[in-house]
Formats: sequence, structure tokens, C-alpha cells
Amino acid sequence: MIGFIDSGVGGLNVMLSCYKSLNENFVFLCDNKNSPYGNKTKKKLLIATKNNIDYLIKHYNIDMIVLACNTLSFTIFEEIKKLYNIKIIPMQFDKNKINKLNKDILFFATKNTIKNNNYIKNKINKNGYKYLYIKGLAKKIDNNLFYLENIEKILKKHLKNKKYNNIKSVVLGCTHFVTIKKQIQNCFKNNIEFYDNISEVVDIVKNNITEKNTKSFHIALTDYNYAKYVELKAYVYKNLRNN
Ligand code: DGL
Repeated sequence: MIGFIDSGVGGLNVMLSCYKSLNENFVFLCDNKNSPYGNKTKKKLLIATKNNIDYLIKHYNIDMIVLACNTLSFTIFEEIKKLYNIKIIPMQFDKNKINKLNKDILFFATKNTIKNNNYIKNKINKNGYKYLYIKGLAKKIDNNLFYLENIEKILKKHLKNKKYNNIKSVVLGCTHFVTIKKQIQNCFKNNIEFYDNISEVVDIVKNNITEKNTKSFHIALTDYNYAKYVELKAYVYKNLRNN
């Protein structure tokens, strides 16, 4: 069984992509108790993630863990991987794909990802790529999963800044932002080219498993709430129906 960890729907996006293309058993642990991760200290993220990995190992037959979150992957992956014997897979960027995107490029991620990722920092400082983070946005997406027009209003406020006028491509550096692609596109006049790093993880998972004859998925929450659980399940079924 493969475990996925994130603060909310971003992790579900990653699990869903794996579920759609692989025969395996998946469990997603939604860490709604510690959401959002985007501007939490490294120490807090480390404690939360250790607890979450231990929980998954204790309650499920886990073969592999996916840190289905760019913030965790670029902030604490190096520390976390030393603590466990099982394989832990982080989110990672395919630099070749990013290099091929239409210029100008906007990195849209959390504060932690933008500040902790040397590759992004370098592209911003040396190649003039733009960046944007909006405090608490991931949690707002989780709270408005079926009301994404509320998120569009927030995005419009930030993206109307004239420094974003010529943006042609957006790097979705937070797994939650795959959910709001349409709302991001609606903030621009021209057609935006998007890049997200989820298919990279699907390929890594595929290369590390022997596929089974059946597949399943399971959702758990760190702060159990029936309404939230039903909402996440509804999101999965809506997504599976639309594909
Ligand atoms: N989905 C996450 C990421 O990729 C977490 C965002 C958050 O909780 O702030 O960064």
C-alpha cells in the first residue's frame, strides 16, 4: 500500500493521478489538523510529518510514502528520509520541462517552497522569473472546494498587479493549485501554459512497484470530521467522472 501525505486536497490530486494510472492500493492522510503548511516553521513541519508517517505505518500495510506536497518536499524531505527504512518519494520539478515553457514564467507556490528551493530562487534572481505566494491559500482552497469562485476573487486581487501582465506560463508549485487551474487562467487575458510536477511522481511510483490486479483508495484525516471526509470523497468521484 502507498501512503500520501499533505495538508489537504493537493495530496488528493497526487493520489488521484496515481490511482488513475496504476493498479495499487492507496491511502491519503489529509493533515487538516496542521493545515496550512505554507508558512509553518521547519520544526513544526518535521514533527507533524513524523507523526503522520508513524500513523500510516502503524495503521496500514505501507510499502512507500509519497510526500504529496511541495512544501514538505522542499523543506524537510532531506531530514525525513534519514529517519525511515521505507522509500519516501518527494515532489520534484522537471527542470527541462520548465525550461521549455513560454516566457514570461510565474512560479506560484507557498512561501516555504519559494524561500527554500534554490532552483526557484536562482530562476527568480538570475532569469527574472516572477513569483507569487498568498498566505493561507491552500487552506482557503480546502474550505471552498466546491465554491472555487471565491478563490478566483482572491487570485484576481493579486494577479491584477501589472508585474504579471506579460505572464505566459505558470508553474504550479503547490499540489493544491492543480484544483484552481481554471480560476488562475480566468485572471489572464491570454492563454496560459501550465506546468505541475504530479506526473513526475506517478512515473517514480510506477518504477518502484509491481502492479497488482486490483486497485483501491482510502482517505484518513488527522482531525476527523465527517463532513470534510465526505467532501474529499465527493471531490475524488467528481474528478474520476470527469476523466
Ligand atoms: N499542497 C501543499 C504544497 O504542495 C501544501 C500547501 C499548504 O498547506 O500551505 O505545498
